[in-house]
Amino acid sequence: MQFETACIHAGQRPDPVTGAVMTPIYQTSTYAQTAIGAARGYEYSRTGNPTRTALEDGLAALEAGAFGLAFASGMAAIDTVLRLLRPGDHVLAGNDVYGGTYRLFERVLRAYGLEFTYVDTSDLAQVDAGLQRQTAMIWLETPSNPLLSISDISAIAQLAGKQARRPLLVVDNTFATPRLQRPLELGADIVVHSTTKYLGGHSDVVGGALAGRDAALREPLAFLQNAVGAIPGPMDCFLVLRGLKTLALRVDRHAESAAALAEFLAGQPGVARVLYPTLASNPQAALARRQMRSGGGMLSFVMRGGEAAARLVAEGTRLITLAESLGGVESLIEVPFAMTHASTAGSPLAVDPGLVRLSVGLEHVDDLIDDLTTALAAAEG
Ligand SMILES: Cc1ncc(COP(=O)(O)O)c(C=O)c1O
Repeated sequence: MQFETACIHAGQRPDPVTGAVMTPIYQTSTYAQTAIGAARGYEYSRTGNPTRTALEDGLAALEAGAFGLAFASGMAAIDTVLRLLRPGDHVLAGNDVYGGTYRLFERVLRAYGLEFTYVDTSDLAQVDAGLQRQTAMIWLETPSNPLLSISDISAIAQLAGKQARRPLLVVDNTFATPRLQRPLELGADIVVHSTTKYLGGHSDVVGGALAGRDAALREPLAFLQNAVGAIPGPMDCFLVLRGLKTLALRVDRHAESAAALAEFLAGQPGVARVLYPTLASNPQAALARRQMRSGGGMLSFVMRGGEAAARLVAEGTRLITLAESLGGVESLIEVPFAMTHASTAGSPLAVDPGLVRLSVGLEHVDDLIDDLTTALAAAEG
């Protein structure tokens, strides 16, 4: 099945009872049993729900995984993956991960005896030097949030494979989506998602998911999913399922417009630097092109006028909404230093106060350029 077809059909079939073409929202917490211990595949909705199963199977197919599991949020998926580890284990993470991931690692999981260090994972030498005897997991975000830096997934998988105790390689694929990049095919063990973003795609649901390459990982992760219980409700699963159907179309258009906006911004006098994976001036463009189908819908740029100018641009757009989050049909703009990444202030992960992050939506690109032109003029004025 081609990717576009899998978006619509993978994991889904007409409802066996009614023939409903769309997966029904099975709004039930429990399931009638025909005899004690004889359930019809489902017993209790924390453990399993048919709407969730359709989403999990669909996601597994899109990520070329052996299995998928859905969660109440991206953070719930990330937290569940980290629970595979034991006190004393070390995690080598990218130094440009989502602020909430950093907060979970540092302010929650450190207290349970896990160790974290952060390196620039776009530099293989730093990854190699950062691996320790106790390293049980490598955590990558590529493209990273908010700097859009690219890490070489297959090269890092090879480094991991050379360790005496092979660490699990986990990739947060939220920015790229499986339309652009399939980490499991490049040697990663687990892919995680905030389905809140492109997979849902309409800014109307918070959710998370993971997919695994090896079927043997399903049992411990499904155990944790059920034991910890951070599961999504059936309505939320339905919304993500509906989003998935148009994923290929949406992501391709997001990326087309983002590439055009990156070129436009690179020519603006008030903009010091544009960060976009496939921009010709990006030293990582060749790696991005090799690893990703296109540069994706996210871009960041640094204002010459620093924080004050960044704030003026972000507050100066009319069509592009000032808001956190990303990956929806509407364009969103934000200043990571003051918003999504405020939790990294004072840490090695702190971001440039002059950085502006843009989630390029599906509006006509000319309208987006007009809006940014006005906002940039106000910031420079
Ligand atoms: C790359 C990345 N991973 C994970 C998350 C967390 O996802 P959620 O907000 O759905 O918990 C986010 C949220 O912004 C994100 O950008």
